[in-house]
Amino acid sequence: MSAKRLGIGFIGTGNISSAYLKAILGKDGMPGFGVLDVKGLADMRPDAASARAAEFGLQSMSVEAMLADPAIDLVVNLTIPRAHVEVGLQCLAAGKHVYSEKPLGITFAEGRKLLDAAKAAGLRTGSAPDTFLGGSHQQARAVVDSGVLGQLVGGTAFMLSPGHESWHPDPAFYYDLGGGPMLDMGPYYITDLVNLLGPVAQVSAMSSRLRTERTITSEPKKGQTMKVSIDTHVTGALGFANGAIVQIGMSFDVAAHKHVPLELYGTEQSLIVPDPNFFGGTLEIRKRGREEQWTEVPVTAPYADGNYRSLGVADMASAILENRPHRANGDLALHVLEVMEAFEIAARDGRTVDIKTPVTRPAPLAESLKDGVLG
Ligand SMILES: NC(=O)c1ccc[n+]([C@@H]2O[C@H](COP(=O)([O-])OP(=O)(O)OC[C@H]3O[C@@H](n4cnc5c(N)ncnc54)[C@H](O)[C@@H]3O)[C@@H](O)[C@H]2O)c1
Repeated sequence: MSAKRLGIGFIGTGNISSAYLKAILGKDGMPGFGVLDVKGLADMRPDAASARAAEFGLQSMSVEAMLADPAIDLVVNLTIPRAHVEVGLQCLAAGKHVYSEKPLGITFAEGRKLLDAAKAAGLRTGSAPDTFLGGSHQQARAVVDSGVLGQLVGGTAFMLSPGHESWHPDPAFYYDLGGGPMLDMGPYYITDLVNLLGPVAQVSAMSSRLRTERTITSEPKKGQTMKVSIDTHVTGALGFANGAIVQIGMSFDVAAHKHVPLELYGTEQSLIVPDPNFFGGTLEIRKRGREEQWTEVPVTAPYADGNYRSLGVADMASAILENRPHRANGDLALHVLEVMEAFEIAARDGRTVDIKTPVTRPAPLAESLKDGVLG
């Protein structure tokens, strides 16, 4: 374990915060990320912060106290999408690096504002998802980088679901501005695709909103209706700078389907990449030719066997301490946000949209980081 640690705090202690804390503190069989020294938890609902703090044996504090605490260098922003940039700007103004849940912001313009503020302050921004750092996705990256797929032709990306109102305790934000299947789940798929294929150059799209009101079926708000302010079925294509074209479907309106989450096509071989919402999963590859079969690619890369949400924060903290670039960074998230917004523009205007923000693929997560360098 690295001796150096970075003081961090959380703003937003709702549903997803427990996954972060379990990974950091080494629950559920995970080794923990010792580089992250959790100094406190805050939320606009103080009772939510104190309940989560009690659950994990941590301190709760007010947002103001957290921002004023000199022991906290980095804030993990787990608020709802509409609050990501506002809270992020507060953290930067207080002199703290900020790592946000996805999406980086709900518009490209506000995401840009966050990155500009960070640059001006000499601070870093990071963003979920970090699942592309998971073992199965890093293994997929190694397969792509080895060149065995041949020339990269394209692929498919599908996240087709009936929506979140059957399980999330407070699902209204998924149907509000800043929600929708693309802004909610697109970050996992598009970030993984950028990690595998490089920058997106163009987007085309069509989308629909068949219901303007939906009913919550999960407790405790069962029976309440929610207004739908965004399109809930989004389809289109991503044209990558390397020439690959990926068809995509993101939906909160599909009852059932049999597509795999991600497939990549090369002229020599095709690769099935597991669900980018998870760190692990099975990779399959098949050569061109009628007699060929799908075979499993062994996953030897680390972080494939658990819900390691916070791996991106651990990499960012290590990067700050080691003065190197971090992988789940704001530039990557801003590129992905521009791509996601381009789906809205392309669908609305019936045209293909060019993507302008530059991005470089994050460095692969080296095997050498396996045994605790990040922790
Ligand atoms: N729930 C999941 O499975 C999941 C998975 C991955 C990512 N995410 C992302 O994580 C984020 C949070 O999701 P969640 O499911 O935990 O939501 P949630 O509604 O359960 O929790 C959000 C918390 O943020 C607090 N909050 C909101 N605005 C705030 C503000 N301005 N200042 C301080 N606190 C504020 C709320 O009081 C609440 O406790 C979202 O961006 C979501 O997209 C969620």
